[in-house]
Amino acid sequence: MTGQAQAIILGIETSCDETAASIVVRDQSGHGTIRSNVVRSQLDEHAAFGGVVPELAARAHVEWLDHIIAQAVDEAGIALEDVDAIAATAGPGLIGGVLVGLTTAKALAASLGKELIAVNHLEGHALTARLTDGVEFPYLMLLVSGGHSQFVLVRGVGHYERWGGTIDDALGEAFDKVAKLLSLGHPGGPAVERIAREGDARRFKFPRPLLREQRLDFSFSGLKTAVRLQAEALAPLTDQDVADIAASFQEAVTEIVATRSRQALERFKAELPEAQPQLVVAGGVAANRAIAAALAEVVAETGAELVVPPIALCTDNGAMVAWAGAERLALGAADRLDVAARPRWPLDTPDMRISDDAAR
Ligand code: KG4
Ligand code: ZN
Repeated sequence: MTGQAQAIILGIETSCDETAASIVVRDQSGHGTIRSNVVRSQLDEHAAFGGVVPELAARAHVEWLDHIIAQAVDEAGIALEDVDAIAATAGPGLIGGVLVGLTTAKALAASLGKELIAVNHLEGHALTARLTDGVEFPYLMLLVSGGHSQFVLVRGVGHYERWGGTIDDALGEAFDKVAKLLSLGHPGGPAVERIAREGDARRFKFPRPLLREQRLDFSFSGLKTAVRLQAEALAPLTDQDVADIAASFQEAVTEIVATRSRQALERFKAELPEAQPQLVVAGGVAANRAIAAALAEVVAETGAELVVPPIALCTDNGAMVAWAGAERLALGAADRLDVAARPRWPLDTPDMRISDDAAR
């Protein structure tokens, strides 16, 4: 079976504002090694606009992707011909960027005669903890990034159940918007976290939308509006006002994420009584120390395990795409050259490429 052989995978990620490529090797026992992981962030291109501009992003991917791939291959000490397969993010994401990465992958696969694997970006995040920490199925993933906030039960490769998501803004997006209205720059998460350390988190009691409801969904737009109204009421803001607002906002979202994660882990224990409950965190917001500390408390209370991959692998990167490709290839799930890019692609879409019992 294909799962027995070693595989060298090139992973390509271009779905948002990172142009990334990586070489990952998966050995016979299923153990992964990152041989290179090159990420070029487009922060400078988008800085003046306070957010990612899709057209500029696509253009920058076109300009940089070939160089980034060459660098990844070079740093891995291999030749392009040595790879067994080329994996690229095929969605969800900004379609212009996705097309750049996927088309490049198709061209390479066709010209080199290698396998092509179209990877769901969310699956890349979902499987990273198996590359970094060898986590076994099943586990619960909390994905909190600039574009996504969701709980996903990961039963196996291609077997995902979405347990909840955001009904408006993603958590990282909420951080970014709050940072913008406090004039803290972009990306906002790290800036809000830094300034919150100087602030009094009890000064403002911001709302915790949906928190009393039992569903595993998030809503951050009402909270963001409350922050804006408070900032307008106090204007002009002193440095202390800004720090207190940032701290109170971070306190609110930390409580929301912690409470929801507790509920999600309780559901995990109820639905999968045989399994060791594990919470895997992915996405850029995993870098937030206040949130990470709260999650550590939640897993301690619920008897679960917490896995937070190194932050460079929580944010968008090529290694997660290469690894998802490696896991799929091991199950014989390569794609045809006419596979389509998908701007929308929920992770729990039935996966026709993997049979029901192959993946767990
Ligand atoms: O995963 P990521 O690099 O990109 C995608 O959105 O796919 O996540 C970026 C998001 C941004 O919204 C950023 O503000 C947020 O993660 N972020 C943080 C922190 N570091 C990054 N949010 C809160 N605290 C942080 N320390
Ligand atoms: Zn992402």
